[in-house]
Amino acid sequence: MAEELVVAKGNKEEKYKVLLPQLEALMKYESDPVAVMANMSAAIMDTFKFLWVGFYTVDSDRLVLGPFQGPLACTRIAYGKGVCGTAWAEARTLVVPDVEAFPGHIACSSSSRSEIVVPFYRNGAVAGVLDIDSADLDTFDSVDAEWLEKAMAILSEKLSGSRVTEVERNGVVVYCASSSWVPRKYLDAAYEMGSLIAKNGFTLVTGGGYRGLMASTIDGALSEGGNVTGVLPHFMIENGWAHKGLTKCIDTPSMHVRKQTMAELSVAAVALPGGIGTLDELCEIMAWSQLKLFPGKVVLVNVNGFFDPLIEMFDKMREEGFMRGGEIPVKVVSTPQEAIEYIGNSSCRG
Ligand code: SME
Repeated sequence: MAEELVVAKGNKEEKYKVLLPQLEALMKYESDPVAVMANMSAAIMDTFKFLWVGFYTVDSDRLVLGPFQGPLACTRIAYGKGVCGTAWAEARTLVVPDVEAFPGHIACSSSSRSEIVVPFYRNGAVAGVLDIDSADLDTFDSVDAEWLEKAMAILSEKLSGSRVTEVERNGVVVYCASSSWVPRKYLDAAYEMGSLIAKNGFTLVTGGGYRGLMASTIDGALSEGGNVTGVLPHFMIENGWAHKGLTKCIDTPSMHVRKQTMAELSVAAVALPGGIGTLDELCEIMAWSQLKLFPGKVVLVNVNGFFDPLIEMFDKMREEGFMRGGEIPVKVVSTPQEAIEYIGNSSCRG
């Protein structure tokens, strides 16, 4: 990539027109997100000479300062706070003509008068925001929003490995056994769960294995012509453990990234009977739900009373004051039909 920036003369639309392909080139030839964000900040700053141009990235329940150009800035912003935290919470671009008039605006620099914040995504979930501040009032409008959103769409695509937008985030993740050596009734319930997910217009998000309840869930969804996204760590794909019918197969570097990716793609999570892996996934999503890191519904399908001892354990936790807020962060149902009715018309913000 040429490391010299071409800046167009003329109005801002003409400037963006020349800038965008250069931003795209920065992303094409560099895979490290920090390096990409650093050069994007520099290119936008050099083109427009704004007061501050930079990135904040999502770090659990906060945004943390990323690469930027301009004066010193606050390093952490809570979810829903300031312009940046609000753009994250609402997953949309915010144009602020007068920062003084924005409730809860965080003034990192007293020279900032107007601001635009544009989120970017990884696998459908907000991964961070681009924040631009101007020393003048009313600097930004729909032209800036449109072009900067185009740039952030390319960054999102780069981070996701595919273009997944909020509109496409309609997954229901199912955690369940990969063992086939279990009574037929569990396999049948999994098949029914998969088919109901597909029939109701959701994408089945799954660990993607070719055996056990996992395979039955996938077969059920495919029998209804549904979409199935399998998320597998690289070693499982290498071992040939992926179901052959997956509509889309996402290869992750680790089990941790697998679980995170499945959650990011989903508007609800369902646990069916399973072993240690299923329990791990269920407990993790319940913890994320409690901490508001996962905004969707969490459902436990207690097929044939399989989870009775676990529910007893949860009750014990609640009775003895170990359950935060006194509530068990899972809805217990008995059948796949009840589960899908509870999930109903979940949206991506839960
Ligand atoms: N004004 C932002 C904080 C970040 S600085 O502008 C760099 C906000 O209210 O979120």
